[in-house]
Amino acid sequence: MRIKELLNQRFSAAMQAAGIPSECSPTLALSGKPQFGDYQANGAMGAAKRMRTNPRELAQTILDNLNLDGIAEKLEIAGPGFINIHLDAKFLARSLAQPQSSAASIKQTVVVDHSSPNLAKEMHVGHLRSTIIGDSLSRVLEYQGHKVIRQNHMGDWGTQFGMLIAELEEHLGEGEQAELALNDLEVFYQQSKKHFDADPEFADRARAYVVKLQSGDQHCRNLWQQFISVSVAHNLDIYKRLNVGLREEHIAAESSYNDDLENVVQELVEQGLAVESDGAKVVFLEELADKNGDPSPMIVQKSGGGFLYASSDLAALRHRINTLEADRILYFIDARQSLHMKQVFITGRKASFAPPQVSLEHHAFGTMMGSDGRPFKTRSGGTVKLADLLVEAVERAERLVREKNTDLNDDEIKVVARKIGIGAIKYADLSITRTNDYIFNWDAMMSFEGNTAPYLQYAYTRIRSIFRKATIDAETFSAPIDITQMQEKTLAFKLLQFDEVIDQVAADCYPHTLCAYLYELASAYMTFYEHCPVLKDDVPTATKQSRLQLCALTAETLARGLDLLGIEVMEQM
Ligand code: ARG
Repeated sequence: MRIKELLNQRFSAAMQAAGIPSECSPTLALSGKPQFGDYQANGAMGAAKRMRTNPRELAQTILDNLNLDGIAEKLEIAGPGFINIHLDAKFLARSLAQPQSSAASIKQTVVVDHSSPNLAKEMHVGHLRSTIIGDSLSRVLEYQGHKVIRQNHMGDWGTQFGMLIAELEEHLGEGEQAELALNDLEVFYQQSKKHFDADPEFADRARAYVVKLQSGDQHCRNLWQQFISVSVAHNLDIYKRLNVGLREEHIAAESSYNDDLENVVQELVEQGLAVESDGAKVVFLEELADKNGDPSPMIVQKSGGGFLYASSDLAALRHRINTLEADRILYFIDARQSLHMKQVFITGRKASFAPPQVSLEHHAFGTMMGSDGRPFKTRSGGTVKLADLLVEAVERAERLVREKNTDLNDDEIKVVARKIGIGAIKYADLSITRTNDYIFNWDAMMSFEGNTAPYLQYAYTRIRSIFRKATIDAETFSAPIDITQMQEKTLAFKLLQFDEVIDQVAADCYPHTLCAYLYELASAYMTFYEHCPVLKDDVPTATKQSRLQLCALTAETLARGLDLLGIEVMEQM
């Protein structure tokens, strides 16, 4: 059981015994400062207010009824009625010896919509955040035992594809292979666009192909399929390089909902939710009215009969609930799509596509900025391809590794450089509060100091080297823990907070909380290591063993935490 949960139970019982109404909660929180203990229970103040009594006296009554024998070594009332809890070192040592349970108390089916790039173009930096934040949450939820179903809602449908397949047709006509023609999707897109703007005949054909494609014409379908396959392959390659768990089977692209769009719109019309407006079918939402009181419009079918982004999102929503049986659906999409998501959610609820017990959550994020404070661009002002960014990250990491004189051989350096480079990019993103914009800065993210991936990876390698030096297998090592020093206690307490942190990330989907925790853990370890010698000759055997056990647990927790962020560790760097 999490320590916090245990304390909560004991405090709730004490509060009940003290005659406090059951709506009052103990409000437990980690203490900000060591002198305030490890946890604080702040519930006495709220309860006293309710009961119109003195908060310090009420805190004392709670303490009189509280049993934390063997758990806390000291309890004290501070300030207006805070209760400071100093945990017992023996209790911490005992807790660390027990297997920790990471499982969530209620297991859910969670659909995670993430990455979801448009296939007309190559993935660019704008897709990074959704891809890696969603990957981390998928890992966290899986770790807790939930059934996670990733859904890559790729944009593979829409008017651009008419132009792209008309262009592809010409290339293939000249005997070129699709893979080759589409080797650089960015260039191909520009080329088609130029062609489209300059050649009216081509433009007509492109427009005709959109219609033909949508009506199921085989020739257009074939061309489209070739285009999509190449583009998907690009993306799958990026996921591999990024160490992101998205695979082909997670793709549920927009086009997969085509057959259902008609039904969705028809149902909305039958329910009186969608109405005709200038030939189009529109849902007007009073709930999102602007300041003049005008309802917010969401078009679900264009006047020509075509469907849109909103229509496929509604179909996807229904699919996720009816077929995938989701209890919870998470959308990791840029904050700029907040209105769209609100419209889809409200409409989905009103149309009863989404019953009230299913949680619909848009977890928005800010933009990645360049050092000039504007959206991150190439020197010439173009969008930065994700593929290029990853190459640069690994190259930079390789240079760094070579600078540190390392005993690694060339092949090993390559592996380590990949883990550091990719880890640095991911961590820089994940460690910032998701909803904020953040500035992309190579030097900061690659630094071996501060709250960075290389710092944490380095902390891990340092611990592993202790075990190598002692010729002990860290994996199988196990010894009783005996806490005598303050630094040992601080480290032990940090180690025990891991699952509480994971609970929180799983609930609010802010991975920076996990990053902050890992950084604090590594820092607590460094302080411990400075004050508490492990392998020195004069350290008594039992102490040595106990400290090695703390080291092993720290390494394990760092590796697990980084893995939940999608970041790999290495034995040496
Ligand atoms: N393809 C969209 C884009 O690139 C993102 C899709 C997000 N997912 C969704 N269900 N709408 O902007």
